[in-house]
Amino acid sequence: MMMTHIFTCILFVLMCRSSNAAFTATLPTGGAHYYALNGIIRYNVVLLADSDYNSGSGVFTPSKNGTYSVSVTMMSGTVAAHLTLRKNGVTYVWLYTGNEYDMATQNVNMDLKVGDQVWVQMTNAARSLFDVYNTFSAVLIP
Ligand SMILES: *[C@@H]1O[C@H](CO)[C@@H](O)[C@H](O)[C@H]1NC(C)=O
Repeated sequence: MMMTHIFTCILFVLMCRSSNAAFTATLPTGGAHYYALNGIIRYNVVLLADSDYNSGSGVFTPSKNGTYSVSVTMMSGTVAAHLTLRKNGVTYVWLYTGNEYDMATQNVNMDLKVGDQVWVQMTNAARSLFDVYNTFSAVLIP
């Protein structure tokens, strides 16, 4: 009985902790949309909100030091396109999809400090994305 109670408490603490600093956002419409070259993608449809993610700017600014799991999924639809996941402006990884409704995902771990800035930006030519198939997520690994 006592053990069960202790485990429940531990689970509760773990759940509370892992519920911090997690967000997922996507793009608004069913169609292909233009995004400016080198522009930050503003994933403005927030599926899981976190105060560290600014859906107006598309920038994630962690308020806790730690290792984060960061994930980007893209589909450009009928044109080929590149995205880059950036940490403080520096390319961390590239994504690419071709012109036949392919999808691509990069799921990476990133050491981040308070105030670092993480975003996704359009890179190279063919500047459009097929909105609803695009997501940007991060979670602090407990
Ligand atoms: C986060 O890491 C930086 C650099 O290592 C350190 O200076 C700072 O004190 C840390 N902040 C917190 C809240 O742990």
